[in-house]
Amino acid sequence: MRTGHSPPLVSMSGVDKIFFGMYANKGVDFDLESGEVHALLGENGAGKTTLMNILAGIYSPDAGTIYAGGREVSFRSPRDAISAGIGMVHQHFMLAPVLTVWENMILGQDGVPFVLDRRRTVSQIKELSERYALSVDPEARVTSLSIGEQQRVEILKMLYRGTKVLILDEPTSVLTPQEARDFFAAVRMMTAAGHGIVLISHKIDEILSAAGRMTVLRRGERVGTIAARDADKETLAEMMVGRALRHFPKRRAEAPGPPVLSCRGINLKGGGDSKPLSDVTFELREKEILGVAGVAGNSQGELCEVLAGIRRADSGEMILRERSVAGLGAREFIELGISYIPIDRKGVGLVPNMNLCENVALKRYWRKPAAYGKVLIDWEYIAALTGELVGSYGVQTLSLESPVRLLSGGNLQKLMLARELSGSPSVILAMHPVWGLDVGAAEFVHERLTEERDRGAGVLLVSEDLDELLDMSDRIMVMSRGRIMGVIERPDAVSKEWIGLMMAGVPAEKAV
Ligand SMILES: Nc1ncnc2c1ncn2[C@@H]1O[C@H](COP(=O)(O)OP(=O)(O)OP(=O)(O)O)[C@@H](O)[C@H]1O
Ligand SMILES: [Mg+2]
Repeated sequence: MRTGHSPPLVSMSGVDKIFFGMYANKGVDFDLESGEVHALLGENGAGKTTLMNILAGIYSPDAGTIYAGGREVSFRSPRDAISAGIGMVHQHFMLAPVLTVWENMILGQDGVPFVLDRRRTVSQIKELSERYALSVDPEARVTSLSIGEQQRVEILKMLYRGTKVLILDEPTSVLTPQEARDFFAAVRMMTAAGHGIVLISHKIDEILSAAGRMTVLRRGERVGTIAARDADKETLAEMMVGRALRHFPKRRAEAPGPPVLSCRGINLKGGGDSKPLSDVTFELREKEILGVAGVAGNSQGELCEVLAGIRRADSGEMILRERSVAGLGAREFIELGISYIPIDRKGVGLVPNMNLCENVALKRYWRKPAAYGKVLIDWEYIAALTGELVGSYGVQTLSLESPVRLLSGGNLQKLMLARELSGSPSVILAMHPVWGLDVGAAEFVHERLTEERDRGAGVLLVSEDLDELLDMSDRIMVMSRGRIMGVIERPDAVSKEWIGLMMAGVPAEKAV
């Protein structure tokens, strides 16, 4: 795609980055042409985000050179990188939630006049959003936006600042399939307009269909860069892990047990930033994985929060092993053996400034064997447990005392899964458990969920990935607008289209 003699938009050569004596990047070369999508892949912790943080001016490299538009550059801040035409949208978004879209656009910009020209900014945003099919309401507050909309705001913010190079760190791991299609349509318009895009992703299928070239990192080093025509799934997977992947055969439940959690007529009014639940009635049985299919934002999060005791339903009954639990607090739900893997990894999930041990202790510090006496925590026990979890889930960390904010995105996710799946829970509420995990780690987590089921747990698996649900679930419950549209008893006997209709709000009887 090189046109004439024009240099690449950016190139990096021999880049090193060292954290506490460990190489996160070592001698890495990377470049990006105008009009191309260059994918960056590798296992969790391979150094993808670090390399792009360097290109975006967040970190300075310990060695190596960076060129933008053919000239050597050295960035002291993201602002410097943006001035050189390079912008990044992060794995975890960084918008100010209480401000509006247009206010976020100009926030932190140089040379913003004292009196803000709201009308001009709004019309510029509208123009950009039409040109690149990134629809968003400039006057909306960020808190009211879906994840897909927030991402469009982040991308528009970079385009508004005139960046030619857009670095997108796992943009689709948080999108619904429909949103992902729209996203790639916008990507095509950006490349057609001459932008260059770095796409970090764990989804090999989408990389193969969207990227022109792909670079694989392993343990901080570049394994190779190949053109799309030379790439296939197996080659890329082998480049990432250094060996062929092993596949776990998926197994169905032998025979599900009695209900472990029964819900009858659960209602939640919704309003504000929460969606309603209407008359939700279902049973989760021991030894089963009950998949929950639905388009994002159809109250799956609210349902899990009610089931985890974080949110209180307005009415309805919840029975856990013959005991009514509606009205109990979140801590009692934990004690009753309900584990929760939320969407919001940093927040309800993990506390970024606490270290690994403290995060593991969060859910059990008040009970045996972690606690002795009334107030003392057995840190030796916690450290041993954390060490064991880190080992079996392959969480990459410098030490158990590092704050978890230093972990890579996927390693953070592995730590939360390790904590929630330990201690023999009776109910596991898992929202998108494999988001952000590399292929190997995703397989491992699926295997762990299957083991927990076979041990006796009831697993509620919320996902928008129908293939994952069909692969993993013993039964599938379909949700639309806070209602249960039906439960599919034999997932292997139905078509995806049928489930799709139910997800769109057509009740099971009519969808046949
Ligand atoms: N600020 C930091 N301080 C210390 N270590 C860090 C810091 N940032 C990253 N690391 C370490 O560098 C390594 C590479 O991390 P990076 O975030 O680049 O991985 P990644 O390839 O993006 O992984 P993932 O797919 O999980 O997002 C990890 O082991 C991580 O813990
Ligand atoms: Mg990352």
